[in-house]
Amino acid sequence: MYFTPEEKVIGTDNFHTAVGSTRRDFLIGSVAAGTAAGATYFGYSKLDGNPVKVGFIGTGDEGSILLNEHPPEYMDIVAIADLRPTNRKRAFDGDGNDVRQGLVRKLGPDCKKTIKVYNDHKALLQDPDIEAVVIAVPLNQHAPVAIDALNAGKHVLCEKLMAHNISQCKEMIKVAEENNKLLAVGHQRHYSVMYDNANYIVQQGLLGDIKFIRAQWHRNNSFPGRDSWQNKINPIDRAELEGRVSEFGYDDMEHLVNWRLYNKTGGGLMAELGSHQLDACSIFLGKVHPIAVQGYGGRNFYGVKGVGSLDKQQDQREIDDHVYVTFEFPGPNYKEDQNDKVIVTYSSINTNRFEPYGESVFGSRGTMYINMEQEALLFKEASPTTGGGGTEQRLYVLNGSDGQPVLDASESLAPSANAAVAAAATQKVSRGYTEEMEHFCYCIRNNIFAPPSEGGLKCNGTVAMADAIMALTANLAMKYQKRIVFKDEWFDPKNPATPEKDPEIIG
Ligand SMILES: NC(=O)c1ccc[n+]([C@@H]2O[C@H](COP(=O)([O-])OP(=O)(O)OC[C@H]3O[C@@H](n4cnc5c(N)ncnc54)[C@H](O)[C@@H]3O)[C@@H](O)[C@H]2O)c1
Repeated sequence: MYFTPEEKVIGTDNFHTAVGSTRRDFLIGSVAAGTAAGATYFGYSKLDGNPVKVGFIGTGDEGSILLNEHPPEYMDIVAIADLRPTNRKRAFDGDGNDVRQGLVRKLGPDCKKTIKVYNDHKALLQDPDIEAVVIAVPLNQHAPVAIDALNAGKHVLCEKLMAHNISQCKEMIKVAEENNKLLAVGHQRHYSVMYDNANYIVQQGLLGDIKFIRAQWHRNNSFPGRDSWQNKINPIDRAELEGRVSEFGYDDMEHLVNWRLYNKTGGGLMAELGSHQLDACSIFLGKVHPIAVQGYGGRNFYGVKGVGSLDKQQDQREIDDHVYVTFEFPGPNYKEDQNDKVIVTYSSINTNRFEPYGESVFGSRGTMYINMEQEALLFKEASPTTGGGGTEQRLYVLNGSDGQPVLDASESLAPSANAAVAAAATQKVSRGYTEEMEHFCYCIRNNIFAPPSEGGLKCNGTVAMADAIMALTANLAMKYQKRIVFKDEWFDPKNPATPEKDPEIIG
């Protein structure tokens, strides 16, 4: 969807008005208490006691972003580890990109003397000073590294996707329990204030009956040199690591550096990108498990000889470059009537970035449009009784006949929420990384092992495993060209059943 600048302002205002109206008491309370937005929204406070002593394993593209976003009041970085010397250096010096400014700029030059540097995760895990680790290594190594860390007595925050397969997810949960350690997974939307507000609007019923969510992540890598998933191997890294990478689970340097392109090391577009959108969609739908998935995936660009501008002979990738999947989710009354379904479509493509990434939630009374984790727009459906709607209409929220809030449209400006509410509703749009790390540390210091509904980690092993099941089962549906019905036992950490071993799928 594309909007005029005026429509964008109206849609954004509508979103804030709806948040201000429906969460007014909550927001006023948070402003009055002077607490940071993340803490208020996600139910934690400042740390009582010392910051948690943390080691970062994997300081590549994502690890460097997490270093940048880490909250020093909650987290004391005592060590980093990376196989690649260039990425160890980047952790401190940054790479000229503001989202990866480097620890020196963030913490000051002395950090180079105080933060220990290890060449691999095994060395770091022997460090008795470290209480917890943040893991941002390639997907195939999430489970082995996390399990090593848990067995070494460290709490773990592991990047998404939780693991390369569901058996590994179940093993990670088991080992965390055996060691009495926390296991968090970095699906950051669970800690995004904007998503929390969006979800609140959905849960209030303001969008009416939701039957369809459309989500996508579209990139255009058809221009030479544009594919961020395919990088040249740096000679400095090669000189240090060539011949040694198999010790750490990679066949060769190519699999270490360009891990996303290979089935052995990555999980394709669904694992890397789709899991984010499916996570968001399932949050909006009350974290219910999907009913079924089907889809098409192919190497429709990189697999076609003589098309596009890349030298196809050079491209050995195994993963699909275009995926289109359809999920059926249960609607609120699905148990009573199995026609009550919500359909979620997801596409991820490599040859066009119109509408880059986000989710559009289509309800019978309104539409919510979330763009690139940064913008949330809200519009009302036109109705015969309440009149106007659409992208040019400002909204306000009133009480419906049953006491539930409903959207109404106004020709004039909507009555704005008071200043405190507006300020709280529009606080900085954080993607959620900082809040995710703050809450992780808060749970460690306060010994909180409770489920998410009781103040525990919002994306714990069980929650994250459900995201992995959605992404990886979509891969199976595309591979075997089947409509796959999800089974409850896959989502049960104690049950050994998994989609990848299911005879009804793999035959
Ligand atoms: N949450 C998000 O939005 C988001 C975004 C991008 C990536 N990620 C996830 O973050 C993870 C890392 O992705 P990336 O883009 O940073 O990849 P990357 O290849 O840029 O970085 C991975 C780093 O891990 C290092 N490494 C590998 N094995 C190691 C080991 N045993 N010990 C120490 N270091 C090791 C590599 O040398 C490399 O520097 C992936 O799981 C990815 O899915 C999440």
